[in-house]
Amino acid sequence: GATDADAAVAVAHPNIALVKYWGKRDEALFLPVTGSLSMTLDIYPTTTAVRLIDEPADVVVLNGRPAVGEAYTRVARFLDLVRSRAHRTEHAMVVSTNAGPTGAGLASSASGFAALATAAAAAYRLDADDRALSRLARRGSGSASRSIFGGFVVWHAGDGDGTAGDLSSYAEPIGGEALDPALVVAVVDHASKAVSSRDAMRRTVATSPFYRPWADSSEIDLVEMQKAIARQDLPAVGEIAERNALGMHASMLAARPGIRYLSPQSIAVLDAVLALRADGVAAYATIDAGPNVTVLCARADAARVTAALRAVGDFVDPRTAHLGPGATLVPGED
Ligand code: PMV
Repeated sequence: GATDADAAVAVAHPNIALVKYWGKRDEALFLPVTGSLSMTLDIYPTTTAVRLIDEPADVVVLNGRPAVGEAYTRVARFLDLVRSRAHRTEHAMVVSTNAGPTGAGLASSASGFAALATAAAAAYRLDADDRALSRLARRGSGSASRSIFGGFVVWHAGDGDGTAGDLSSYAEPIGGEALDPALVVAVVDHASKAVSSRDAMRRTVATSPFYRPWADSSEIDLVEMQKAIARQDLPAVGEIAERNALGMHASMLAARPGIRYLSPQSIAVLDAVLALRADGVAAYATIDAGPNVTVLCARADAARVTAALRAVGDFVDPRTAHLGPGATLVPGED
């Protein structure tokens, strides 16, 4: 039965992919078509508490409100997976709070499921090292596999399907911290997106004639990106990240029907990034499944980039992030 000891609190940070994950080869196991590479941030943490309870169902509270519908089901399904692995049956009370915007293409699902995997594994006494936690977090949200680790992180696509695919598809840190870039996150819209990344990916893979070409080029980007990080070549890192993200959006714009996350505000920020480069500032854009644009630059250029983004309009609310830590348990909560 549940006791007060069966509880844990974890903190995890979002990550922004510089080589994107877009498309699954196995929907149930969250196996990606391509490998991806990200930078874990030091802003917008998610804090998640998991406590085993003596109730007939899981209780989920997200940002102070009871979760309902799809948001509830995703957490309950994830807990089912943890319970089956831990050979436990108790339900849990999950209380999760995002410091940043939720569901607006700023990787709240990455920090959310990384924190949930870490806290739930501890609460259910599941014996899991970081690689196992990464594979577990992947089952909540693919990008969450990367937020288990800090700094620059690669998520391997893995080989094969079924158990072989599951075992070989995990994230790991790759070093390269000396590059020490800044990411200026240009929040242009705090609202949740209309199409989930899961549905958008599925439709892109199934219907876009540009999907396969993007996936093929992304495999090359992944190799080039790792070399660029290793030689601390910020302009190369930025160029690869920008082309990879624009290509991903091109692939989904060509889906049937097309998916467009970019808003006029996103385009205005992209224009500001081009203007910065024309002025000699090494600034490069990347965009996830939402309208917000993230700008990669040298730490020393972050203030200049922030000023340029503010000048785009009142709708841009820039925040600066640097390399951040992996998911951790909060001590003293077990
Ligand atoms: O893990 P999901 O379902 O939130 O998908 C993330 C997709 C992108 O953010 C667009 C790209 C990525 O690699 O994070």
